[in-house]
Amino acid sequence: MERKEIEELVRRRITEKLKRTGKEYIVAANWKMNMSAKETKRFLDQMNETEIPQYLKTIIFPPYPYLYIFQKMLRYSRIAYGAQDIAKEEKGAYTGEVSADMLADMGCSYTLTGHSERRGYYAETPQIVGEKTKAALAHGITPVICIGETLEERQSGTYKEILRLQLDAVSAEAEINSCIIAYEPVWAIGTGVIPKMSEIAGTHEFIHSILVSCGGASEKTAPILYGGSVNEKNVNDIASVDYVDGFLIGGASLKAESFGKILKLLSVD
Ligand code: 13P
Repeated sequence: MERKEIEELVRRRITEKLKRTGKEYIVAANWKMNMSAKETKRFLDQMNETEIPQYLKTIIFPPYPYLYIFQKMLRYSRIAYGAQDIAKEEKGAYTGEVSADMLADMGCSYTLTGHSERRGYYAETPQIVGEKTKAALAHGITPVICIGETLEERQSGTYKEILRLQLDAVSAEAEINSCIIAYEPVWAIGTGVIPKMSEIAGTHEFIHSILVSCGGASEKTAPILYGGSVNEKNVNDIASVDYVDGFLIGGASLKAESFGKILKLLSVD
């Protein structure tokens, strides 16, 4: 297919989906442990000048120390922001943790939970992810629950069991269809490798079926974002896949130019 045809297809798909579901299309940026205060201010200055269509829900997840800059600079903006992690406890002697109340105080309307880097490097079990998700919802913060399989799990064919287990653990604690899901295959994160479109389609459809089995009416299930090596070159192809309701972007979200370009590519008007 020609690039122009792909772009047209993406526009049609997004427009149809938005009409059908009334949902917003979500483009989220996970900065991980990157950026400085100065870079953050420059990024937000640029973003405040970027035209973002009404239906594109843009969310940025900066490191904790920069949330105050977001609170100050995005007061009149439609760009939302959130934290990369959240404590499962309410308050007390938990050195280094940040509670849901504190995040709400900083104006966070979203938080990531269960990012594979937290599951992998900080031993967050599926149950902990469920408890963090529950804590966020209890304080009016929408969790973006990250799930995904390793390359070994993909190749051995056990990835569906893994994804189901990750979703079930959250569902045992919280109303999963009030959240946002981000499918991020661990092997696609920061590697420049993305799954085949057929793999993304199959996996998103599988996740959607689990969300339906968790009580979501087919059109009212939690949105499912794709994450892992998304950039300006591949975003349109992935956006044309069914059950992809938006993106969670790491590396390509660190520069306002490339993030802005991605938002423009997903703009239908
Ligand atoms: P990259 O876009 O850098 O692969 O990171 C994806 C990610 O982990 C977002 O949460």
